[in-house]
Amino acid sequence: MNLVNSVAKATVTGGLILLYACSHPIEIEGEGDVWSLAGKTCTLENYQTDATQCSKNYIAGDYRDSYYATPRAGWRFDHWVNYCTKSQTNECRFDVPAILVEKFYGATVPPLHAVFVREDTPPTLSQAARHVGIDVGAAIEHNMSPDRVALVQREFSSVTPENALKWGPLAPAPGVHDFSAADATVAVAESAGLRIRGHTLIWHRLNGPPRWLPGELAAAADPAATLRTLMQEHIAVTVGRYAGRISQWDVVNEPLALASGDFDTDNIFYRTLGEEYIDIAFHGAHLADPSALLFLNETFTEFVPAKFDALVALASSLRARNVPIHGVGLQAHFFLQPPDGILLQNQIARLTALGLRVELTEVDIPLPLFASQGDPLQAQGIAYGKVFAACLAVPGCSGITVWGVDDSSTWLDSFVLTSGRSPNRPLLFREDLEPKPAYYLVRGLLDGY
Ligand code: XIL
Repeated sequence: MNLVNSVAKATVTGGLILLYACSHPIEIEGEGDVWSLAGKTCTLENYQTDATQCSKNYIAGDYRDSYYATPRAGWRFDHWVNYCTKSQTNECRFDVPAILVEKFYGATVPPLHAVFVREDTPPTLSQAARHVGIDVGAAIEHNMSPDRVALVQREFSSVTPENALKWGPLAPAPGVHDFSAADATVAVAESAGLRIRGHTLIWHRLNGPPRWLPGELAAAADPAATLRTLMQEHIAVTVGRYAGRISQWDVVNEPLALASGDFDTDNIFYRTLGEEYIDIAFHGAHLADPSALLFLNETFTEFVPAKFDALVALASSLRARNVPIHGVGLQAHFFLQPPDGILLQNQIARLTALGLRVELTEVDIPLPLFASQGDPLQAQGIAYGKVFAACLAVPGCSGITVWGVDDSSTWLDSFVLTSGRSPNRPLLFREDLEPKPAYYLVRGLLDGY
């Protein structure tokens, strides 16, 4: 069974086998049974290990069984993880690379782990991503701990300032910009040569707009003209400051209603200027940095087909009226249900068919979605694998950004729709910065591609 580049799914007779998706399959042979399982890029040890895990159901009583671990080319057997000696009634004898398991009186043999060491050094996530020609990014804040900065600079090829470039946080008063947090965030990327996605110039929700904007427009004799001028100034100053350094911008964020294909009418920009606010934003950004790739970024399209259709129609009409748009960002926050990889791949392909590039700009997949599964972390990893595979399958999909570095800093733990089930743990790294199964899975996917 060759599981390279596939999401593992297999049935085995004669026992319960925990299967893992992986790009490095190995085989374990047990006496009397033969089965294959996908090697699991390790959660047990460190980045250099690759582990397999299996467990079998037995009826009570004595038995003997031996397992042989056979690494594939490029890997060597390192050691068994000794779960067996935990209980007095269980005995194991270890041989290398075989293990003899005797005398289990419980119903289930504890999991056996064979740890394999890759003979060459595994790539980092960013190296694996560069190998296939896409960027893998993370949303970052300006005040991260040094170990998080080091992690980002090692594992990601792209960053998106999570908040520092939004108009709200940037502009304490009309016409005033404080770039200190933005500059600090950009410096983290530039010192390591990472790509930067600018997020986001015009957004009406949460901390997108400045607090003073409604009052300013209410007091204006001509609110539309005032807003147009304020937008143009904000975009010229912000995009101009980072011209040639921030290579992509989410110019307009979430113009559509949350769960339908209509424009969001609870949007100060749309209410004041109509759909033209989008044109104003894109033209302004292009003027300030003609080399920047300009994106329309939208959320929740994976769950509402009519909304995705409306996004395609909007992107086409912007193209048709010569608005300088180069790409569409799909946020890909899977906070309601896990991703459908085929649907996502088809959506990406529909957008690239318009001549636009696509990026998955804000991916997160909460762990509680998989609570009923035997191994939620592994299920989360497989869900991540589907998202990455969808992008890899379409040539115009140029990057995937996850919305945060590690599980300690996810917006989902404070977002109104998801805070109730905190901790959401939706990212690739644990709170202590150890990689999760999802990390190994997507790295293996990219590496093996
Ligand atoms: C979120 C940030 O992660 C939070 O820290 C902030 O309080 C609110 O905004 N869609 C977007 C992002 O486009 O800008 C949002 O980021 C998450 C939803």
